[in-house]
Amino acid sequence: MTAVQNYIDANRDRFLEELMEWLRIPSVSADSKYQQDVRRAAVFLAEKLTQAGADNVEICETAGHPIVYGEKIIDPALPTVLVYGHYDVQPPDPIDLWESGPFDPIIKKTAVHPDGAIFARGSCDDKGQVYMHVKAFEAMMANDALPCNVKFMVEGEEEVGSDNLGTFCKENTDKLRADVVLISDTSVIANDVPSITIGLRGLSYVEVEVIGPNRDLHSGVYGGGVANPINILSSMIASLQDENNRITIPGFYDDVVELSSDERAEMAKAPFDLRSYQQDLDVGTVRGEAGYSTLERTSIRPTLDVNGMWGGYIGEGAKTVLPSKAYAKISMRLVPNQNSDKITALFTEHFNRIAPPSVKVKVTPHHGGEPAVTPTDTPEYLAAHKAMEQTYGKSPIPVRGGGSIPIVALFEDVLQVKSVLMGFGLDSDDIHSPNEHYGVFNFYKGIETIPHFYSYYAELK
Ligand code: BES
Ligand code: MN
Ligand code: MN
Repeated sequence: MTAVQNYIDANRDRFLEELMEWLRIPSVSADSKYQQDVRRAAVFLAEKLTQAGADNVEICETAGHPIVYGEKIIDPALPTVLVYGHYDVQPPDPIDLWESGPFDPIIKKTAVHPDGAIFARGSCDDKGQVYMHVKAFEAMMANDALPCNVKFMVEGEEEVGSDNLGTFCKENTDKLRADVVLISDTSVIANDVPSITIGLRGLSYVEVEVIGPNRDLHSGVYGGGVANPINILSSMIASLQDENNRITIPGFYDDVVELSSDERAEMAKAPFDLRSYQQDLDVGTVRGEAGYSTLERTSIRPTLDVNGMWGGYIGEGAKTVLPSKAYAKISMRLVPNQNSDKITALFTEHFNRIAPPSVKVKVTPHHGGEPAVTPTDTPEYLAAHKAMEQTYGKSPIPVRGGGSIPIVALFEDVLQVKSVLMGFGLDSDDIHSPNEHYGVFNFYKGIETIPHFYSYYAELK
């Protein structure tokens, strides 16, 4: 392992420069104007995988953005690790709030990243974390130290719901055959508090439309006489949570798995400082479902949030108008045993039921995904645990994550293979937000930890 470490040490600057070059390609999957850039990002990755020593590297076409595949099979008798990640990124908006260009990566020091952090869209989610795997692989290959087989599958549609990855997996079950999926697309508690994500929430996402009068009206001439769809939508949304901040949709909690008091006590051991959490977000106090801690509310409990809401006049100055329509995008995070299709159906039924007769409503489902929990008594969990223990000098804490990676449940269904979520970001890295960044420390820590994962896994499996 020292040869691998020496190689990493000798190539640190180049690794970082290459990542910065990749981050300059705006691989925004949601916006078709970036379609060619998304492809360029795939080609860049494919080239780097080939250079690192991967065989059969391919840009696999899909109905949407391509999937990058590559592999190194050293001995079919050895276990195989499937590395999954995504090279697509969220749109950079709102662009005005970036202190430097979202696709002009720069390194700046911050309070939690005294060694510097790379500021760019995708630096943490997920190009920076995918690139750690490519460089760890390169380091192992260059030193003849790859202890098991490896397959890479990196998609370009994670941020838009992985619509085509399911089909790709179903059509390529042999090619993708593996003993475990290794994913770095989550976070650690802090740079001196390593952790491993052992659960992810599912997602149900809907768009709603409330339709009032057949055209925009003068809010003086007609105001008071007909329903204002924005007023109606606001009160409908407000009614979706009660005074305990519990979701009022009938049946919403029916399938939720409640944690035992032992499990909750175990969870409460993870370090969490409410004061600095509030300070960081500049909020006077937190808010959430009664009876649960902030850590619980953001991981083991389901939620409902408006992600965007619009209608009427939103331009400069005042325009008196009674709008014809109002819209909102609503996400519901789901926890184990809830099912996204079922929750979407419950939402739709409820939303139609609570609409007053003065308006019409329309609910359109978007992509969803199922929650996942990963067991901790497996060779892969133990390998991740030992690898992090080795490089951080501390035992990592198992934690349930609040975000969603719907493909994890799908891997279990379609490929019958479990995942291990060994991510290296920080929750404060502002993924999906302006000024997303990724610690230089975290980037190198990932590169150093991954080879240990491979050797422990080969040993334990
Ligand atoms: N990497 C995130 C998910 C994540 C972030 C999990 C932090 C745990 C901790 C992923 O790229 C993501 O953003 N997922 C989306 C869901 C997807 C269907 C668009 C999400 O969670 O909103
Ligand atoms: Mn991600
Ligand atoms: Mn994301």
